[in-house]
Amino acid sequence: MKRWFFGFAVLAAACDPGEGDPVVAARKRQMQALDASLTIIAQSGGGPVDRMLAEIEARAVAEGAARIPALFAERRLPPEIPSRARAELWEQTNEFRDLAARLGRSATGLANAIKAGDFVGPLTQVEADCLACHRRFRLPDPNAKTR
Ligand code: HEC
Repeated sequence: MKRWFFGFAVLAAACDPGEGDPVVAARKRQMQALDASLTIIAQSGGGPVDRMLAEIEARAVAEGAARIPALFAERRLPPEIPSRARAELWEQTNEFRDLAARLGRSATGLANAIKAGDFVGPLTQVEADCLACHRRFRLPDPNAKTR
């Protein structure tokens, strides 16, 4: 019984990345979806079905990027909640929006490049746009050994 309960608690935590805060859970889920899309694109082969799926994922990244400002509209900060958002995010909102918009543009560029058959360069640009925002507005991972 105890064991079952423990398993359930672990599962519940895995399903709720905001650990009880629905606003934080929503923004983290969107980020996880962006990550999953990039993995699918990076692993896709050159065949027509792969290309079609990769293009859909790239468009999903562009749509996800458009949702970022709304998902972060409400100020929710650590240490009260489990989040790595920096306080500056709610002070430099224009810069935050610009970085999200930049990702939207590069993801659309990636989708078009996939359609045209060559997407290595555009994928690198999308990844750079993810990192640009993380470096500026995301706190370092407390569990990471480096940085
Ligand atoms: C405009 C800013 C911005 C952009 C662009 C951005 N992110 Fe994020 N991302 C954040 C912030 C801020 C957090 C921290 C959220 C939190 O902990 O509350 C985050 C968190 C994450 C997380 C961790 C989610 C979790 O479960 O804790 C992943 C994964 C992630 N981002 C992937 C991506 C990928 C992949 C891209 C590009 C396709 C991307 N992000 C683009 C700002 C951004």
